[in-house]
Amino acid sequence: MGNWKMNPSTLGKAQKLFLDIRKGLGRRKTQVEIAVTPPTPFLSELSRMSPSNRIHLGAQDVSHLDGGAHTGEVSVSMIKSVGAEYVIAGHSERRAAGESDEEIYKDIRASIKAGLQVVVCVGEQHRDAHGNYFGVVEAQLRAAIDDLTLADLKKISIAYEPVWAIGTGETATPADAEEMRLFIQKIIADHFGRKAVDAMRILYGGSVKKTNAAALLTNSQIDGFLIGGASLKASEFVNIVNIAEQITKKHAKPTTKR
Ligand code: PGA
Repeated sequence: MGNWKMNPSTLGKAQKLFLDIRKGLGRRKTQVEIAVTPPTPFLSELSRMSPSNRIHLGAQDVSHLDGGAHTGEVSVSMIKSVGAEYVIAGHSERRAAGESDEEIYKDIRASIKAGLQVVVCVGEQHRDAHGNYFGVVEAQLRAAIDDLTLADLKKISIAYEPVWAIGTGETATPADAEEMRLFIQKIIADHFGRKAVDAMRILYGGSVKKTNAAALLTNSQIDGFLIGGASLKASEFVNIVNIAEQITKKHAKPTTKR
């Protein structure tokens, strides 16, 4: 998933970026699920440019409120009606702007109820020598899943995004990402049982580029990426999709004839 954040500056530029990604991907069938989250005002036009939904669209944030006197807010039914199938919840930049765990949880619930897929972001500000960052991730995760059901969980992916790696060029090592994946899976298994772990995808985000994508996918066995800066360059984004596709093919189980 490409998170375009507050970019690009005009609809025209967004259309060009989307078109370049579409061209770069070509018509091939791929097992890799591809999505971008443009700024909300561009969703409607971009969804017209992706009639086959090969590139899925999502919103970067949403309000759990249904409608009414809430100046500036955008509801789940609004983003859905203009083509969004996904929503990001709890991105660290939203948390830094004051979004609380409780609001994030409400946004997740409202999005699931509306049938959207939710990418829930968790991640520590920095790493300390004592491993306190595990507690930070655990608290964010537990608040996000609170009293969700196993069925709800099928609509969720967790994106582990250490804040120190976002937009900094620093990346978690594959070993760090794997350790956090296992930790997140353990919390999910404790809460919902082992089955839940298979149903849910875990992504990594934080300075993902074509040069580190293969190592992260292969060595940490995460299921995909949330990509910021590198998703604003069509060729770089397409390259990462290509890498994911090659790795998926390599790991695909051979089909057996009955
Ligand atoms: P980045 O951003 O890839 O530019 O580090 C990731 C994100 O914020 O989702």
